[in-house]
Amino acid sequence: MYTISGNTIMINDPELLRDIFIKDFHVFPDHINNIYFGSSHMSKGLFFLKGGDDWKRIRNIITPAFTSGKLRSMMGPISDITNRLVDMLVKYERTDSEKSDKDFGYDSISDDDPNDPTTGQTPTTKIPVGKLTTDEIVAQSTQFFLAGYDTSSAALSNAIYYLSEHKDCQQKLFDELDGCGDLSVESVLQLKYLNGVVNETLRLAPSFVQLFRTCVKDYKLGHTGITLPADTDVLISPYAIQRDPEYWPNPDAFIPERFIDPKHHPYAYVTFGAGPRLGTRV
Ligand code: HEM
Repeated sequence: MYTISGNTIMINDPELLRDIFIKDFHVFPDHINNIYFGSSHMSKGLFFLKGGDDWKRIRNIITPAFTSGKLRSMMGPISDITNRLVDMLVKYERTDSEKSDKDFGYDSISDDDPNDPTTGQTPTTKIPVGKLTTDEIVAQSTQFFLAGYDTSSAALSNAIYYLSEHKDCQQKLFDELDGCGDLSVESVLQLKYLNGVVNETLRLAPSFVQLFRTCVKDYKLGHTGITLPADTDVLISPYAIQRDPEYWPNPDAFIPERFIDPKHHPYAYVTFGAGPRLGTRV
């Protein structure tokens, strides 16, 4: 097919995707082709950079900002914001009053009292700037809001929706959380049912409905007999793969247990992408 970025093929076969994401990454290092942002910073953000030297350099500098140690140092603010979200949900459960974006966490930090010691403080973790230019720093920061905010808030809203539809799952999750004591990075990693709920939500309702790759040279597509000419864009649909009955029995049902002892094909679940451009390792 022909799309805004040129000649495009959609590929949703997990075996072909394994090659495209991992084995032949050198042929598919780029996300989207032919998208230009003029003088805006957007083109310098990781997501839109071509997978060359700048992308590698910036990714290497940014990655250490997302280690478990850094995450641990954010647990205080994360818990505070979570408690406020829970208070809101409890309030609406009782009153069913009109809701707004703000009530569900939008602006949750900037809205706070600047004198509040939990939000007015200088961060204890230094962000490694390495050799990023000012423009690159602005680009990555902006992109974290775009790539990180909407994806996470959609996942959270959809999880709440699925749990409201499946009271049995809600009860199981409640029991698991009730028994886990104080939340910490370590204790959250032990919460198998919570992990199942999040992954099952993102299976049925992936935050990214499409993934993108561009091939930089002619490429023989597995055993299909098809050769993709250089510059062809590849579109991948997590939504289609993650509801395909060939890989997911009872594909439209919400069953968090699928992820407790997962048996699915590893490339039939691509909600975070895969390979060197995987989002979650950032
Ligand atoms: C539920 C939460 C999230 C989902 C489902 C998600 C999903 C994705 C997906 C599908 C990609 C493309 C990966 C690929 O092409 O293989 C991606 C890339 C990316 N994500 Fe996320 N993401 C989430 C949260 C975040 C957060 C919180 C951040 C940062 C604060 C973030 C930053 C990025 C960046 C910078 C990229 C581009 C990586 C690169 O091209 O090297 N994402 N994400």
